[in-house]
Formats: sequence, structure tokens, C-alpha cells
Amino acid sequence: MSVPVTLHNKAVYDRLAPIYDTGFSDEEFPFYSLEDKWVLSAIDRFTLPCGHSKMAMDLGCATGKFSLHFLNRGYCVTGIDHSEAMLSELDARLDGQKPRFTSLQLDIDSVERLPLNADVVLAVGEVINHLNNWDNFIHAAANSLNPGGILIMTVDNILGVDFLAFALYSHLFRWRHRPSLRECFERVRGSLANRPVLGTWPMYLSGQMYDLELIYRPVRHVKALIESNGLRIICMEGISSLSSLVPSMVKSQVFPLEQARFQSNGGFAQRLMSIEQKAPEFFSRISAVCGIVAIKEQA
Ligand SMILES: C[S@@+](CC[C@H](N)C(=O)[O-])C[C@H]1O[C@@H](n2cnc3c(N)ncnc32)[C@H](O)[C@@H]1O
Repeated sequence: MSVPVTLHNKAVYDRLAPIYDTGFSDEEFPFYSLEDKWVLSAIDRFTLPCGHSKMAMDLGCATGKFSLHFLNRGYCVTGIDHSEAMLSELDARLDGQKPRFTSLQLDIDSVERLPLNADVVLAVGEVINHLNNWDNFIHAAANSLNPGGILIMTVDNILGVDFLAFALYSHLFRWRHRPSLRECFERVRGSLANRPVLGTWPMYLSGQMYDLELIYRPVRHVKALIESNGLRIICMEGISSLSSLVPSMVKSQVFPLEQARFQSNGGFAQRLMSIEQKAPEFFSRISAVCGIVAIKEQA
């Protein structure tokens, strides 16, 4: 994609805000629960609790699941999102922690520099896939880190096992909202040529279908951008890969489990999830989602 596209996700997230926390429970969407577990474990493994002396910046913070985790670890936190509806949900959840939290409504796709420096920059929930300008985003995130600071991010792979399985099963079982053959073909070409591809992620939440527009590139592109901006990658792990082979898991990317379950047995998927948790690095290249942690070395 040489010309940036206009993504329409802000309106979708404004509508999603009131049901974002309740609608996405682990029980209903097991496919995503692994990702949240990965983020919490990366925060605990790679950042230290502190006594209000450190700053965390949560990019695309939504209703603040991870901002609150950082507040509980003693950080001062700035949560940034372009959806004012998400930020007001977050505001309502702060419960006495307001002095250490600042929210900022900002479109991070169109800024050259982020508004502050931080010891931890968080960009999870595939925030990067919501943006046009990945080079600019990684550059701004790396520049905003203090020396010794940590970037924790997740990226949705252009051609993970999950997408291939979703394309295969959804056409085989004639699921609603299957990806077009054109999108499948574009993703293969984009993966080979390292080109960005615009895709639509259908998401069924509380009885409604939301179409999110996302941009995909190979994980290797993100790795190269991080390294060329002077950060050292200290962890790169796959999230949700083997479990993507089970039809019910794949269907639960879009539909809650009660609608997806009939396709196969959830217990088998849970066993596969525990296997992939044992060898996360091995699965990082082929996984649906890749979790990355990078450090800005002290000068
Ligand atoms: C999938 S949610 C992730 C939320 C949270 N980080 C998590 O992991 O649960 C993506 C968030 O990024 C925000 N977002 C998307 N594009 C953005 C942009 N250009 N500028 C600022 N925020 C954006 C959305 O409003 C949404 O809240």
C-alpha cells in the first residue's frame, strides 16, 4: 500500500467502549485470553515494581486494563487513545488513583513525537496493526523511551497459522464473514514481498458484528524497525499458534465460544494452548500474535 488509507476504527472503538471489558471475557473468547496472560507475564518478567518514581505510557490504552496494572505496580501512568469513549470508561475505573494517572486523547498515527518520555512504553492489543505509519510509530516509541527503558508490544502477523486456518475453515464450513479470496491472496503476496496489506477483522460482540480495519505486515518487518531504531529485542514469543488448528478456537476469533463450540472439543484446544506456552519462541514466527519486548540500552 503506497498511499496511506483512512482507517475507520475510531468510530468502532467509540461504540465498543461500554461493552469492551464485559464483552471480551476469557471464557467467551479463549483465543484472546492467552494474549492477556502473555502481556501480564511480560510486564512482570521485564519491569520492576516501583514507588511512583517511574513513568509508563500505555499507547492505545482503551479502558485501561494494563494501565491499571502499572498503577498497581507503583508507576505513574499516561494512557493514550484516540477514542474519548474508551478514555471516559477508563476514567470511571480509576477509583482513587487519579493523581498518578493522566489520560490523553491523541491520534498516534499522525504524530511525529510522543508527548512524553517514559521508562516503559506499552503498545499491546496489536495497536500497531491499527496504524498506517509503522516506521513513524516505532521511531516515536523508541525515541520516547528513557535509557534502560522497555518497549512491550504485540503485533498481529500477516500470515499466521490462525489466519490460514480461519480462511480454510470458514470457506469449508461456510461461516459468515469469511475473508475474501482476494484478501487471502494479498496476504500471501504481502508476506513474500514485505508489503502492507489492509484486512478486515470481523468481530462479533454482544449480538453485533463490528468490522475492524487493520493493517498487516510480516513480523520480521517489525523486528527490523525496532532494531534500526536502536533498541535490542530481549524477548519475542508466539501467542496462539497450535491452538489455531482447532476449528472451535479459530471460530472463537470472531464468535463467542458458545457459538463456536459445536465445531470441536474445547479441551483439546486447551491442551494445545498449554503446549505452545512451553515453547513460545519456537512459535513466534508462525503464530497469530507475536509478543515483543525490547530495551533501550543505557548510553
Ligand atoms: C485492540 S484495542 C487494545 C486495547 C488495549 N491496549 C488492550 O490490549 O486491551 C486498540 C486500541 O487502540 C486504539 N487506537 C487505535 N488506533 C489509534 C490511533 N490511531 N491513535 C490512538 N489510539 C488508537 C483504539 O481506540 C483501541 O482502544
